[in-house]
Amino acid sequence: MEPSRPIDPDEPVHPSQLIDMSAPPMRAVGIKTQFGPNIIHENLDFTVRRGEIVGLVGGSGTGKSVLLNTMLGLKEPEGGYVEYFGQNRNDLDAETRRYINNQMGVLFQGGALFSSLTVRENVMMPMREHTDLSAPLMRELADMKIHMVGLPPESAVLYPSDLSGGMKKRAGLARSLALDPKLLFLDEPTAGLDPVGANAFDELILGLREAMNLTVLMVTHDLDSLYLICDRIAVLVDKHIPIADSLDRVSQYDHPWVQEYFGGPRSRAAIGASDAAASRQKG
Ligand SMILES: Nc1ncnc2c1ncn2[C@@H]1O[C@H](COP(=O)(O)OP(=O)(O)O)[C@@H](O)[C@H]1O
Ligand SMILES: [Mg+2]
Repeated sequence: MEPSRPIDPDEPVHPSQLIDMSAPPMRAVGIKTQFGPNIIHENLDFTVRRGEIVGLVGGSGTGKSVLLNTMLGLKEPEGGYVEYFGQNRNDLDAETRRYINNQMGVLFQGGALFSSLTVRENVMMPMREHTDLSAPLMRELADMKIHMVGLPPESAVLYPSDLSGGMKKRAGLARSLALDPKLLFLDEPTAGLDPVGANAFDELILGLREAMNLTVLMVTHDLDSLYLICDRIAVLVDKHIPIADSLDRVSQYDHPWVQEYFGGPRSRAAIGASDAAASRQKG
């Protein structure tokens, strides 16, 4: 992006001024990932568009979590590169990289909270690490996040072991939102929740996308989530992502894994559920 006025060399340039917010928030280009002789990704291209909720699906062990870590910059790919807002991650200076890292929130698979810390302290953790806000302000912001994810105020002082599975997920989500990210990564967020809890969590993600202008990349096995909240679905098969498109297009994609996944009985049940939900919304 061209700066609109000459940059004064004495004036510090904030990283946000160098970032083209109109470019796709994230793009993986020609990614290759390898552990020893084991090639996980090869020639993998994938663009995340601004404001979308994109679901990433693929068989168990195909490398969805590893791809998430690569896109987060926690794992260096053996080939290819990752772009944030149109800039190659490798070209970013330390300050810009830090700035971009703080734009990304993540709820890892399993989403472990620190068991010795209360919910509020867990949510304050990223603020302690990455900001110099005062403790009272951090507490206030943490309580706001706890409220946003639909947890009651009294849960702020509870420990993870006091929480149900669904509440733990919400607490983890509150922590991932601690720094007001623009990009949210969720790895199997509804795994282990009952269908009611999973649906409520999906609704929450939709609401937060609106409220916080989020772009969301969600790894999921949950067909209901795919049908109800994802704008696009990216399929990881044969070490790459050959299609990332609407549910309609993806479910017609000619690949045995895709056909089995979207043509099976669980999928038909999810279609039934989403039709029912749609007619409920129509009233
Ligand atoms: N740190 C690692 N060292 C070696 N192999 C790994 C490592 N992390 C993941 N793998 C392998 O990479 C593959 C993809 O893993 P993963 O991304 O966790 O799959 P999933 O699609 O189920 O999330 C698996 O075969 C896994 O064993
Ligand atoms: Mg995984």
